[in-house]
Amino acid sequence: MALYGSVPFLMAHKKGRSVGVLWVNAAEMWVDIEKLEGTNKPSLQMQDYIPFSTTSTQKTSTSTHWMSESGTLDLLIFLGPTPADVSAQMTSFTGRSAMPQHFAIGYHQSRWNYLDEQDVQDVDAGFDEHQIPYDVLWLDIEHTNGKRYFTWDKVKFPEPKVMQEELGIKGRKMVTIIDPHLKQDDAYPVSKRAKDLGLLVKNKDGGDFDGWCWPGTSYWIDYLNPAGREFWAEQFKYTNYEGSTKYLYTWNDMNEPSVFSGPEITMPKDNLHFGGVEHRDVHNIYGALQHRATAEGHRLRSDNTDRPFVLSRAFFIGTQRYGAIWTGDNTAEWGHLEISIPMLLTIGVSGVTFAGADVGGFFGNPDAELLTRWYQTAAFQPFFRGHAHIDTKRREPWLFGEPYTSLIRESIQRRYRILPYLYTLFWEASQTGVPIMRPLMMEFPNDEETFGIDNAFMLGSGLLVHPVVKQGASSVNVYLPPSAKWYDYDTYQPIKSGRTTVQTPLEKVPTFLKAGTILPRRDRIRRAANLGLRDPYTLIIALDDFGTARGSMYVDDGHSYEFEKGAYIITDFVYEKGVLNATSSRRVDATPALQKDVVEKLGARVERLVLVGVKGGVKSVTVGGRRLEFKSEKGVVVVKDPKVIVGEEWKIVVA
Ligand code: GLC
Repeated sequence: MALYGSVPFLMAHKKGRSVGVLWVNAAEMWVDIEKLEGTNKPSLQMQDYIPFSTTSTQKTSTSTHWMSESGTLDLLIFLGPTPADVSAQMTSFTGRSAMPQHFAIGYHQSRWNYLDEQDVQDVDAGFDEHQIPYDVLWLDIEHTNGKRYFTWDKVKFPEPKVMQEELGIKGRKMVTIIDPHLKQDDAYPVSKRAKDLGLLVKNKDGGDFDGWCWPGTSYWIDYLNPAGREFWAEQFKYTNYEGSTKYLYTWNDMNEPSVFSGPEITMPKDNLHFGGVEHRDVHNIYGALQHRATAEGHRLRSDNTDRPFVLSRAFFIGTQRYGAIWTGDNTAEWGHLEISIPMLLTIGVSGVTFAGADVGGFFGNPDAELLTRWYQTAAFQPFFRGHAHIDTKRREPWLFGEPYTSLIRESIQRRYRILPYLYTLFWEASQTGVPIMRPLMMEFPNDEETFGIDNAFMLGSGLLVHPVVKQGASSVNVYLPPSAKWYDYDTYQPIKSGRTTVQTPLEKVPTFLKAGTILPRRDRIRRAANLGLRDPYTLIIALDDFGTARGSMYVDDGHSYEFEKGAYIITDFVYEKGVLNATSSRRVDATPALQKDVVEKLGARVERLVLVGVKGGVKSVTVGGRRLEFKSEKGVVVVKDPKVIVGEEWKIVVA
């Protein structure tokens, strides 16, 4: 059963051909997918409808049957021929994902609820004490005055600005929840003004619709109305949202919309929206428009200088332009950890790449093993947030004792080390539409063995992650496509491709580097992501059979829109015939002053090279004739401090 989000998109793939179908329709929709084995004719009644694709000559074929409650047939067909082409084609219509702020791809700590300012301080201090990096602390509905969003419970949160500034000074942020239901209360200005301005969703008789949600009887703003979105965006101005600061970002929940008293826990289908449109026609886009209006509010409050960060539960075609989503209320069970992988893969392929699942499971209490495995898995997924229901036991990462605290710390640190790589993947997604977390078949479209794999995934084209999602699993069976060569990411030792069994003691997260990749990392661990933005880099250079590797890295200031004017650096690394070449590009129309400024502001030193899969001995490593120190062992050569700057052009020669 669908509840939270809908992208009516199907990608079909066979060797040599991918196609995509998108039905632009926001009404309730069902899609039946039928696999037809052998040369059987489709068992469906052809006279009843025409399925999009049926072939009876192949060994297996798949037939899909699409049913929508209302609307027109506004259908887009994307011809590929590769899965990445389909993604590019689809997102050229639906929009590419917005470049997130750098902090937003770090780790987020949430719970329903952090109780008061003291609790916030204690949790924040806990991370420092246990040397676990994190970027954002989240406040759920209990932080408000009676579930009136944009307000604070004055007893528990008397000094919200001071609280946020204390986090902000440490390089961290805060998120508060802002749901779409507005408490019916004339003394609550957001609700009263929206009503007076006629911006609410109407019932079938044209009166203001009222329904029941967290605050009791509530109204809902009509986000289909441009004036409704504008009004909403205004609420985020620092002058309107009392107690908010530039360190505060937003979480939009219950925006499907969730209405406790409504049919199927949502709005009646004959409710009326802007232009007299019935709710039945627009149900699936409602929440995405709230997401959009909130993101616009963030832009408005900062006068377009600060990129928004908004997490939404509802999503629709094009949500990627507004922010992140998560998969909603899961449970602390192994099956829910397992299914987070296919869910996020599917959502990503549908264009919404900045997505995650509640780490640990929302309902129930994970045991230490499940929580640890969940952190290990989610550390490689695009949106990374721990969250828990109000009735669950506390589960901050250090509460389970050793070895779990160390293992969770290591997982989160592993995430922070690859932030330069991840941020580059977000940039790539914003440019090409290809998801950050990809099904194997997207990277190996001619390898039929990969087509059914949804318990492992590619992070970009360089890392293959096969997390452990079964209790007590002492090994996993991994498929490493034989068209490439692979290294174990932890040991840098080559691994036989094809089907391989990998031992999985609790500290092991089977992760593999594809030969031919140059992966940029920041190995110094800081309290929060942005504190490391100028820290030196480590480049992992995984050589293929020809002794070559390549990669690139995108850098900008991590928060503003200056990158749109050209304030960014893209560095291309190519290793070939024993020479590592770095060339950097900036936008051609950026002024020379800006270009220079960018390198001064964003450039950072490379402090280490790790050459993986080196054949034969290495006699010297030099940069501009200067000899560099290095260590060589089992095909891995670690070069110390070449002192070259990312953003400048240079060459390192390995002989
Ligand atoms: C919903 C959300 C959950 C949140 C809760 C209270 O169940 O999905 O994440 O904690 O509401 O706001």
